[in-house]
Order: sequence, then C-alpha cells, then structure tokens
Amino acid sequence: MSAKYEATVTAPVNIAVIKYWGKRDSALILPTNSSLSVTLSQDHLSTRTTIRASPDFGKDRLWLNGVEEDIAASKRLINSITTARNLRAALEQKLLSEGAPAETVVPLSKWSLHVCSENNFPTAAGLASSASGYAALVKALGVLFDLPQSTSDLSRVARVGSGSACRSMFGGFVAWQAGVSDDGHDSFAVQVADRQHWPELQALILVASDKKKAISSTAGMQTTVETSELFAERVRSVVPKRMEAMQRAIAERDFGTFAEITMRDSNQFHAVCLDTYPPISYMNDISRSIVSLVHAFNAARGRVAAAYTYDAGPNAVIYALKDDMRDLVELVTYCFPRDDSTLLEAFYPNSFAIFDS
Ligand code: PMV
Repeated sequence: MSAKYEATVTAPVNIAVIKYWGKRDSALILPTNSSLSVTLSQDHLSTRTTIRASPDFGKDRLWLNGVEEDIAASKRLINSITTARNLRAALEQKLLSEGAPAETVVPLSKWSLHVCSENNFPTAAGLASSASGYAALVKALGVLFDLPQSTSDLSRVARVGSGSACRSMFGGFVAWQAGVSDDGHDSFAVQVADRQHWPELQALILVASDKKKAISSTAGMQTTVETSELFAERVRSVVPKRMEAMQRAIAERDFGTFAEITMRDSNQFHAVCLDTYPPISYMNDISRSIVSLVHAFNAARGRVAAAYTYDAGPNAVIYALKDDMRDLVELVTYCFPRDDSTLLEAFYPNSFAIFDS
C-alpha cells in the first residue's frame, strides 16, 4: 500500500489595527504601506484545510465549504500553489544533488493536489475569510511539502494569494513590512508580540450585515491608488509614524494609545475610501452608530476603554481589556438587540456567543 501524502492545518483570521490599503504591484501583491494586525483566536474564526497529493490525481482540485471551486478561475490561488511547488521542486533538487537516494525523495512537486477547505464561520459575513483561507492553504503546503522555510518566508507565499493572509501565518500581534523591492523579497510578516504578551486584550465582533460587500478590496484599493489625493499623504506621512507608535503601545501594553491609533486608522482608511472617485462607502448606519456608542462609552469612563475598527465592510471589531469588555457587551446587547437586520455575534471572554433580543 502506498503512503498517504496529506496535511491538515488551521489558520485564524486577523484584524488590522493599521490598515493595508493599496498595492504598488498587483501581480506580486506588494503593498503601498506597512500594516499591523491582531490574529484572533483559532477557536472562533478560522479555516481548516486538508491537502492531499497523489500521482493518480489528474489535476489540482479545490473544495471550499464542501463545494468544488474552479481553481483555473483564480490566478491568486494558482500563484500561491505554484510558488509553493517551486520551493518543493528546489528542495527535491537539493536533496538529490546532496546524494539522497532517489527513492527517498518523493516527487511531490510533480503530483496533483486535492485541497479541502472549511471555514468555521459564515464565509459571506465579510470577516476576512481570504486571510485565514490563504494562510491555511500555505501552512498546509508547507507541512505537506516539508518545506524548510521560516514562517516569515512562507508568509511571502501567502501574500501572493491575499495580501492580508501573510499576517495570519503568525498568532498574536503581527506586522506586515511593506518593503521597497520590486521582487517582493522584503515584503513579509513578522511577529511583533505573541498572544500571551497581552492576554487581557479581547476582541468583540459585531456583524452589522452578512451581505457580500459590493466592491471587493482588490477593486476598491486599485481605484483609491489611482484617484485619492488623501491616500498619498496617508502612505507618506501618517502610516510610518503609526507603525512605530503602535509597536511601542503593544510592547508597553498601553491600551489607551493602542485604542486611539486603532480608531484613527480605521477612520482614515474609510476617509480615504470616501476620497476615492467614485467614492467607496463600506460602513452603514449600524456601523456608524457603533462608532458613536464606543465614543460615548469612552466618554462615560473618562478614558479610552474601547476601540472600534472596520475593514472593507460594515462589521465592527471592538478591542477592549477584559474588565471593560464585560460592561461593553452588556451595553451593546442592550442598544442592539439581535433582530433580522442586526446579527450580533460576540466572543467574550473565550467563547463565541450569539445574543438574542
Ligand atoms: O488582503 P485583502 O485583499 O483582503 O485586503 C484587506 C484589506 C483590509 O482588510 C481592509 C485591511 C487589512 O489590512 O486587513
């Protein structure tokens, strides 16, 4: 009986506190600015991926949440798989040239793959599923192909699938260094601090709408780069300072600074979207009332006790320290009882809860 060549991994979602928005190279997915995120717990929002390789599979195939997708239709998917395959081919070559017996070097780089990927959360809810999806794909390829590359090296492979996916290769607090090169060798993710560094920090997810977004992040950021005047200013003078200040705030577990930068960066990202022509508006009325609620909560506490952030969609992620989160969840569930239009899901302290009105 032949051996099974198979790997299963999980990768979590990450939520940026300094946003990536804009590519300087769309094919290699090289960003215009560095970004920083918090990787959420694997238990709540993650993708589990199994990849099997066989010389008998006629072609590569992918099943996403049980439904077969057309791999040929996704250039990014092909890019990630091809990049990982090339690394495997180089490894096989190296082993053979070092004198390893041919029968011990399995030619996995030449075999076709079956990829099976499941999200443990609704894919349509606009909750960064591409980040966990591509990170899981690349982690699984790394294990299956026995690649010797470091996690930062592999984050470059995840990057060519979906930019933000490179940050989901690590847990905890993660920076994606934009780099300056044309070939992308210096554009990868690094861990700034692990999760244990700041265990009191918690995230709450408020699903304001589970509809698919009207403008994809790829299309949106392209138009922003081409048309927004504010955007150049953000990239040149705002983000570099924020990256430094944010890393310091994390190192010092300074929640007030962490929270203020998080909110300001989310606001600026959405301002840049509005400055795009034609304008892009990802937040809705519920998103905006959550912003007001968080500022009211902070005013009532007399300090910055909670921070919101929004990606390319209307759903809020709120960061707070454990003690404040308890009160915040009470307030939010009081103000936004769950009904058909407001799906409210939260995880606090360590469980995934759905609140009913
Ligand atoms: O990686 P993409 O193409 O899904 O872009 C993600 C962009 C934002 O989520 C809006 C910001 C970020 O840094 O994650």
